[in-house]
Amino acid sequence: MGSVVVVGSQWGDEGKGKIVDWLSERAEVIVRYQGGHNAGHTLVIDGVKYKLSLLPSGVVRPGKTSIIGNGVVLDPQALLSEIEKMRGQGVEVSPDTLKVAENVPLILSVHRDLDGLREKAAGASAIGTTGRGIGPAYEDKVGRRAVRLADLNDTDTIESRIDRLLAHHNALRTGLGADPVSAETIRAELEAARPVLAYTAPTWRLLREARGAGKNILFEGAQGAMLDIDHGTYPFVTSSNTVAGSAAAGSGVGPSSLDMTLGITKAYTTRVGNGPFPTEQTNEIGQLLGERGAEFGTVTGRKRRCGWFDAVMVRQAVETGGIDRLALTKLDVLDGLDELKICVAYEVDGERMDRLPVETARQSRVQPIYETIKGWSGSTYGARSWGELPAEAVKYVRHVEELVGAPVAMLSTSPERDDTILVEDPFHI
Ligand code: GDP
Ligand code: IMO
Ligand code: MG
Repeated sequence: MGSVVVVGSQWGDEGKGKIVDWLSERAEVIVRYQGGHNAGHTLVIDGVKYKLSLLPSGVVRPGKTSIIGNGVVLDPQALLSEIEKMRGQGVEVSPDTLKVAENVPLILSVHRDLDGLREKAAGASAIGTTGRGIGPAYEDKVGRRAVRLADLNDTDTIESRIDRLLAHHNALRTGLGADPVSAETIRAELEAARPVLAYTAPTWRLLREARGAGKNILFEGAQGAMLDIDHGTYPFVTSSNTVAGSAAAGSGVGPSSLDMTLGITKAYTTRVGNGPFPTEQTNEIGQLLGERGAEFGTVTGRKRRCGWFDAVMVRQAVETGGIDRLALTKLDVLDGLDELKICVAYEVDGERMDRLPVETARQSRVQPIYETIKGWSGSTYGARSWGELPAEAVKYVRHVEELVGAPVAMLSTSPERDDTILVEDPFHI
C-alpha cells in the first residue's frame, strides 16, 4: 500500500489521464496538486471520451475521493462547468466525492486578461500559453496578493484583498492599454464562485488520515518535466513545478509520503506552444505522427508539434524529477514504420552533450544525434499482454529503458482504458 506520483516526462500530453484513470482502480484517493485548467487529460472508456482539466482523472470511478490541492490555481467557473459537464456524462461529482483545498488561489478574469495582453504584446516571442490565466495567477500567489477560496468567507478582509489585487492589475492594464477593472466586477465574480465553497475541506488532513488508514493515494501531475518552471525550457514553460516533488508542497503532505514516481512517457515526442524542440520533424514524419497520434491539444485544439523520441530529454526528466518507473504510451502510433529514430545525444556548437543546455539560444541550436533502429510490421494497437507485441517493438521498449535509465512498469497501446499492459504494479514497488 502506498502512494504513487504520476508525472509527465516530456512537454505534457503524454497520456497521464489514461494512466491515472487505469491506476485509480487500485487507489482510493486521487489528487491534483499543481497547474490548473491548462491541463487537458483524456480518458476513453468503452468508446466514451471524457476530457478533464481540473478534476482528477479518478473522478469517473464511483466511490473514489477526488482532491484538488492547494498547489493548483483554480478558476471557479471552469470547475463548476466541468462538474456540470461530467454530470451530463453520468459521472457523479458531489461534496462527498470532491474536496477542494481551502487555501487554493483563484484564477479571476484579471488573470485571463493579463495572460492574453502579455502574449499579444510579446508578438513573435510569445510563449504560446493556453490563455487560461495560469501564469498571472501564480504570480499573484507568490506576490502575496491572491484571493484564495476560503477568503470568500472572510468578510473582514475580502475588500482589502480585492483592493490590493486591483491596485496591481490596474497599473499593469493601464500600461498595456487595457481598461481598468472595478472592485464591483471582482465582487460579482467572487459571488458567482460561492458554490465551490461547498466542496472545501482541509485536504491536507484528509490525506494524512487516508495514509494513516493504509489507503492508496494517487497524485496526478499536469504538464511535463520540460514545462517545469525550474527544470524546463525556460521561459517556454508553465508557471509551476511539474516534477514529482511538487506533489508534497502542492497537497500538504511530507516528502516521505510519496512512495514512488511514475513518469508517463510518449513513445515519440510532442510539444504544443512555442520554444525549443530538438527532435521536431517539420516534414512528412511529423505529419504522420500527428495524424496517427491525433495530436491536437485537448484544451486549445492547437496542432501539436511532433518528433522522434528524445532519450536525452527523458533521461534528464528521470534525473531531475526522481522518476522510478516509466509508463510508455502510444507505442501503437509507431506501428508499421520501416525505421525509427531515437535521439541519444546532442551536438551544440560542435560539442557533444548528454543534457539540454540551459541557455535558450543554445537550446535552439541543439542538433540531435540519432540512432536508427528497425521498426516492426505487426500491430501493437490494443495489445493487452506483452506476448502480443512484435519482437522489434519489445526491442524498442527495452532500448528506451536502457537509454533513459528507468524500467517500464506500464505500457499503453491505445486510448482505451483496458488497452494497457501492466508489467509491475506501481503500488507494490
Ligand atoms: P495528458 O495530458 O498527459 O493526460 O494527455 P492527453 O489526454 O492530453 O493526450 C494524450 C492523447 O493520447 C489522448 O487523446 C489519449 O486518448 C491518447 N492516448 C493515450 N494513450 C494512448 C495510446 O497508448 N495510444 C494511442 N493511440 N493514444 C493514446
Ligand atoms: P497536460 O496536463 C501540454 C504549455 C502551453 C504553453 C506553456 C505555458 O494536458 O499535459 P500556460 O497556459 O501553462 O501558461 O502555458 O505550457 N502547456 C501544456 N502543454 N500539455 C499541458 O497540460 C499543458 N499545459 C500547459 O502550451 O506552451
Ligand atoms: Mg493533455
